Amino acid sequence: MEQHNKGQWGSSFGFLMAAIGSAVGLGNLWGFPYKMGINGGFAFLLLYLILVIFVGFVICTGELALGRRSGKGVVGAFESIDKKYSFIGWFAWISPLLILGFYCMLGGYCIKYAIANLGDLFGASWGVNGADSGEYFTNFFTDQFQTVLFTVIFILLTIIIVRGGVSGGIERFTKVAMPALFVMLLIVIARSVTLPGASAGLEFMFKPNWDVFQGSGFISVLAAAGGQMFFSLSLGMGITVTYGSYMKKTENIERSALIIPIADTIIAILAGVAVMPAVFASGLDPAGGPGLLFITLQTVFQAMGSFGPLFGFLLYGLVFIAAITSSIALLEATSAVVMDKQLEKDPTKDKKKVRNNSVMAVGIFVLLEGIFVSMDGLGANGFPQIFGQGCWLDTFDLISEGILMPLGACYMAIILPNSFVDEELTLNGNKFKLQKFYDFCIKFVAPLMMVLVLLGQIDSFFKLGIFG
Ligand code: PFF
Repeated sequence: MEQHNKGQWGSSFGFLMAAIGSAVGLGNLWGFPYKMGINGGFAFLLLYLILVIFVGFVICTGELALGRRSGKGVVGAFESIDKKYSFIGWFAWISPLLILGFYCMLGGYCIKYAIANLGDLFGASWGVNGADSGEYFTNFFTDQFQTVLFTVIFILLTIIIVRGGVSGGIERFTKVAMPALFVMLLIVIARSVTLPGASAGLEFMFKPNWDVFQGSGFISVLAAAGGQMFFSLSLGMGITVTYGSYMKKTENIERSALIIPIADTIIAILAGVAVMPAVFASGLDPAGGPGLLFITLQTVFQAMGSFGPLFGFLLYGLVFIAAITSSIALLEATSAVVMDKQLEKDPTKDKKKVRNNSVMAVGIFVLLEGIFVSMDGLGANGFPQIFGQGCWLDTFDLISEGILMPLGACYMAIILPNSFVDEELTLNGNKFKLQKFYDFCIKFVAPLMMVLVLLGQIDSFFKLGIFG
């Protein structure tokens, strides 16, 4: 069987940029800094780093190895272990498909805000023009025409890049976009930490508060850190398996599985250093989620004076890049399964046509999802809701991030034969230096963590108070 029948990364750097781009997303920018701040600051960070090494690195290694060994998208990859495991692959396929629905809407919000800040920079009528940030945001997300428009633009951009192929589309884009994101982040940090009163923000994020570990607190912080880590590293959703399937056999998986989580964590910390000092310097309360990005930060930029819109444009531009490099990964992972199924039926089919058709088919589905979630207006437009959630974004998130992701990752950790991974990592005379560590963690530490994450997610979505 031809190994890389859907494409292959052109270079090691290109692969790393694509993989780090998939990991670095909205989760880093609005999830990590706030969660770190309210869950013990430096204490949370230490626990998070331990999890990254014991679980993140380990699952990342397993997923990359499974992908490269099978050369398939996530369903074919699990079928390559045993046909009976195909259902785990389908679990992992549904998660990104659901995430795409709301992720693209949020990406569309970033386009809108980048444009609005640009408008302010030129004093144009399509700027924010000093409106109250809270009201401006509500007016925007309840306006169905506008939100659908920006969501559709974001989805079309994602489709165009993914249609370009693994190295000609995804790699080509991320190789430029990720370094640009990094530079933009550094510029925003330089401004943020030099604002008067900025140190309170750094204190919020970094000051250790060991009290959070007392009693059942330890378990609840562990569950929060674990959930954040899985979403942030894009694990348990077939993304890393798919990107692994395009790796060259000569590439060192162990090294990549260390670099990706470390880079993702560094960018999450830097995102906090960019955001929190500015929030505190403006005397605002820290927040997480859309409120932080689209209300609090917009208020900060408006208070900065004439350069505010410039930093606003830079920040929303960088969040847009973070979001689109993640949505590209989500679309590629879901489309790859459709491509595999077509090529299984007829391996002689034209690969380019197969890619185009598959990306279009999944893309149209995502468009419908995105339009629906946008029209829901974060639950404010009177749509009927299910599972006790306040909006369809939360429902999609509950099913994917809350349930399917930890379940899929737990199954994978248990069924993935260690021998598969050992063989794959020692190809071409490579040494698998952390083999014993991997073998132990994948079978014991990772499944235990996943069960905890699953409980933590159900707890937070349904506000059950399992962890007090
Ligand atoms: N890791 C991305 C973030 O932190 O925002 C989100 C994400 C992308 C999750 C891709 C899952 C995924 F497959």
